[in-house]
Amino acid sequence: MFEFPIHSPVEQITYDVPDGYSLFIKRDDLIDPLISGNKWRKLKFTLQEAHKQGKTTLVSFGGAYSNHLLALASAAAKFQLKSIAFVRGDEEQTENTMMIISRMMGMQFIRVSRDEYRDKPALFKKYFEKDDTAFFVDEGGMSAEGSLGCEEIIDELTDTYTDIFLAAGTGCTTAGIINAINKKQLHTHVHSVVVHRGVDEVTDNVNRLSYFVSRNSYLDTRYSILDTPMRYGQHSPELLQFCITFQQNTGIMLDPIYTGKAMMKCYEWMKGNPDGSGKILFIHTGGLLGNLGKLDAFLPYLPR
Ligand SMILES: Cc1ncc(COP(=O)(O)O)c(C=O)c1O
Repeated sequence: MFEFPIHSPVEQITYDVPDGYSLFIKRDDLIDPLISGNKWRKLKFTLQEAHKQGKTTLVSFGGAYSNHLLALASAAAKFQLKSIAFVRGDEEQTENTMMIISRMMGMQFIRVSRDEYRDKPALFKKYFEKDDTAFFVDEGGMSAEGSLGCEEIIDELTDTYTDIFLAAGTGCTTAGIINAINKKQLHTHVHSVVVHRGVDEVTDNVNRLSYFVSRNSYLDTRYSILDTPMRYGQHSPELLQFCITFQQNTGIMLDPIYTGKAMMKCYEWMKGNPDGSGKILFIHTGGLLGNLGKLDAFLPYLPR
């Protein structure tokens, strides 16, 4: 139950990689068009837990452009479960494409105020206390089960790498990667590119979810997006240009909220250390439909 074949090959990227480095990408974006990237990784054991408890309604939380909610809606549909999500009512008054696609997969939305949204357990209790079928899934799929699922990204590898780059929102995926690296006693340096200003919060989450005292793997958040104006959900002209150039030279799509930022930082790191060397694995954490909210911003960068 709650398994499906995972297609996530590792491919080499040769485009603009400086001498001394080799760059590989774990294509978790290919797992599923909607349950893509780290989303399935984070949901798998959560769904198994819900099933064990006999729950059939997944209740979660997210912003109006949440990749997590779209994935949850699709996973629920795939396994004949119900899905309901709380969104902040003041975030966007009209329904955006992500929400419409989630509704096409059967998700129901409950809009609540920003204040109410803050206390998620209280919201769940208020609306679902008497509903025995309801199962709480935290925002972004953040949980011990979520990070356990992300360990499988490393378990699937047949090669070893000196460095791993990935985008971080809550740090749940990073925690899974670090746990798996420690478990396998690898000596891999993990560059977690936090895409918002809460680097301390992410580090706390990673520490809380890591069941190993970090012996071999080394969490590095120095390449996080601290430099404004590129805070969460925002973009700079350089980032948009980077995403377009990268895509047009590799055929691999990125998104400007997570993977584009992390890949840009990966190149910055390689190019900033021209005398360095390394065999790098970039983990593509999916989220490509996030581009739907950024189409207008990309227009000036597209060929005519
Ligand atoms: C595409 C994408 N990449 C990376 C992340 C960050 O993952 P985490 O919250 O596990 O750090 C997210 C958010 O869940 C995401 O949607």
